[in-house]
Amino acid sequence: MSVETVRYQHPKPPERPPLQYGSLTLPSRYLLSPLAGFTNLEFRLIVRELGGMSLGTTDLVNARGLMHGNEGTRSMIETCPEDSPFSVQIFGSEPEIMCQAAQFLETYGVDAIDINMGCPVHRITKGGAGSAMMCQQEETVQLVRQIVESVSVPVTVKMRLGWDDKQITSPDFAAAFESVGVAAVMIHGRTREQGFSGNVNLDGIRKTVEAVKKIPVIGNGDVRSIPDADRMFRETGCHGISIGRGALANPWIFRQLVEWEATGEYGPAGTFLDRLNLLRKQFEYLERRFPTEKAIVRFRKMGHWYLKGMRVRKRMRGDFQQARTREEFEAALALIEQEGPVHGTKDGILPDPHIPVPSGPVERW
Ligand SMILES: Cc1cc2nc3c(=O)[nH]c(=O)nc-3n(C[C@H](O)[C@H](O)[C@H](O)COP(=O)(O)O)c2cc1C
Repeated sequence: MSVETVRYQHPKPPERPPLQYGSLTLPSRYLLSPLAGFTNLEFRLIVRELGGMSLGTTDLVNARGLMHGNEGTRSMIETCPEDSPFSVQIFGSEPEIMCQAAQFLETYGVDAIDINMGCPVHRITKGGAGSAMMCQQEETVQLVRQIVESVSVPVTVKMRLGWDDKQITSPDFAAAFESVGVAAVMIHGRTREQGFSGNVNLDGIRKTVEAVKKIPVIGNGDVRSIPDADRMFRETGCHGISIGRGALANPWIFRQLVEWEATGEYGPAGTFLDRLNLLRKQFEYLERRFPTEKAIVRFRKMGHWYLKGMRVRKRMRGDFQQARTREEFEAALALIEQEGPVHGTKDGILPDPHIPVPSGPVERW
């Protein structure tokens, strides 16, 4: 059977009105979750072209770096008309800088601003930002209030369930954020202490959903398939879902979700050859922004995900990562194309790849 005719079935969810972030109506209820080093302009464009993705976001952007005109930071917020609707996620703990950054972004033309309150990495939390903000409720809510009041675009917050098992604070935070005008909260159903270990705690997300009156709560964590999304909706009552690693492993997931929601059926993810085309296209987009040899280096992280998803032999993945020039890059891809996947066929359905996570104690990430 050809891949085009394959259809999966799964009972569709009840119909609901579109997702609203304040006055902004989102095109679907499936958002891209920020992933440092991955959710850049090129990746957002690729996923948008495949269909189904709602709000696209940058990964965490240092508010101070943005205001100091840091070149690397500014390049993180690059966008284009096709990259819409578009949100920038900022982090920082100084109210003045955070408000200035929000105003700068509003003038720049973003559709929404997200505040990072979930990052567990020491480099971020040691300055009181990221998930450390979940340890000081009063200061944090004040900071968020000031940001909301300094702009007219929707301001959202992305957080974890809390610092650790003993401090599950996301329901209280969500209610307080709603009262100061936050347009939506996104909740990764793990604590900071958990890092990426264990399973996502759907009960914790549900408690956060129940704590707010009107604003949407976006559920996040471990959604890699339609049954995962269905379970997230049913067990948490969340209004939308954000997907991070699942989108790296399968950039078609948003299209599949939207098809499922409309019809109770959905098509398969792309084949080995589709993924290879996508890889080339994403690299070409990158070459529009950076000289080829720089683009090759910048693409290595993303290339790793593509090749894992394509089930390319380990040795060939290694060779691809060694490429330094356009010729070497093309030569490595030509060999990969010739060989095909280790499991499956070039034009058939590929088995799901293993999804790696940052590992080790969270303090050392
Ligand atoms: C490599 C990596 C980078 C991440 N970077 C960010 C980030 O910049 N900002 C943020 O709020 N969350 C970040 N996260 C967390 C994700 O947005 C998401 O909450 C988490 O991966 C769980 O969702 P998932 O299972 O769909 O990936 C990152 C996660 C990973 C694995």
